[in-house]
Amino acid sequence: MKQIYVIGIGAGDPEQLTLQAVRALGRADVFFLLDKGEDKSDLAHLREEILRRHASRSHRVVVATDPDRDRSVATGAYAPAVDAWRRRRGDLYQRLIAEELADGGCGAFLVWGDPALYDSTLAILEDVHARGAGDFDWTVIPGISSVATLAARHRTGLNQVGRPVHITTGRRLTDGGLPDGVDDVVVMLDAHQAFTALTGQGLHIYWGAYLGTPDEILLSGPLTDTLAAEIRTTRAEARARKGWIMDTYLLRRSPRGGPT
Ligand SMILES: C[S@@+](CC[C@H](N)C(=O)[O-])C[C@H]1O[C@@H](n2cnc3c(N)ncnc32)[C@H](O)[C@@H]1O
Repeated sequence: MKQIYVIGIGAGDPEQLTLQAVRALGRADVFFLLDKGEDKSDLAHLREEILRRHASRSHRVVVATDPDRDRSVATGAYAPAVDAWRRRRGDLYQRLIAEELADGGCGAFLVWGDPALYDSTLAILEDVHARGAGDFDWTVIPGISSVATLAARHRTGLNQVGRPVHITTGRRLTDGGLPDGVDDVVVMLDAHQAFTALTGQGLHIYWGAYLGTPDEILLSGPLTDTLAAEIRTTRAEARARKGWIMDTYLLRRSPRGGPT
């Protein structure tokens, strides 16, 4: 039987690694790293730094190229496109586990933030296991997500007293607006700044980019046209400077309808 660890490594600060993650990192013989072909060398460096500090001396690193994914599809075709990409990723995982991990060995996938949040590693491993491909079991080590980091850096909670919190994507916010009955919405994976269509509605925004890293940027306040423009400009400048950006935000609707 082969053992796989899926290790949440936090959202950018190496100090967000949990003690459980450190222990799992020290046990793995092989680390599977996916090269996404993006200009995110800072993220690759963070992974290398984590391995340098915490992996066992005898570990191996296997770098595999992530299958291409068509991100230009319209909303209706989004789910089939993701399914096709997941299948190709499943083929890749199956090959890595079969060919790169010895029987009785321990492999690890390092996952950004928390593996349970907007990450496909767990679903893909489940698919591969269901194919009956290879004798392996897997353990998930939770990580500190970008959402937890966003809330902590803005020194706020995610929900208001006894109220729900909704986590969604920029694409869904653009398509459906703020859901009814929810006052707090966390938005991830938003390449098009969906919040700019929601100014002047009594919302408050807590925005963060590169959370947990030395380049972290935080902006917050009532979501006016002015603040929306400031976030857009700041985001565009940072992205041009670094070549990549990851940002997340919380939109808060005051139950009384005014800014909190
Ligand atoms: C594919 S999801 C991965 C989420 C990750 N599993 C987590 O727990 O945070 C990528 C999205 O997470 C958010 N994100 C991840 N790391 C971030 C960071 N350091 N700062 C701001 N947003 C981040 C962004 O919204 C980005 O588009």
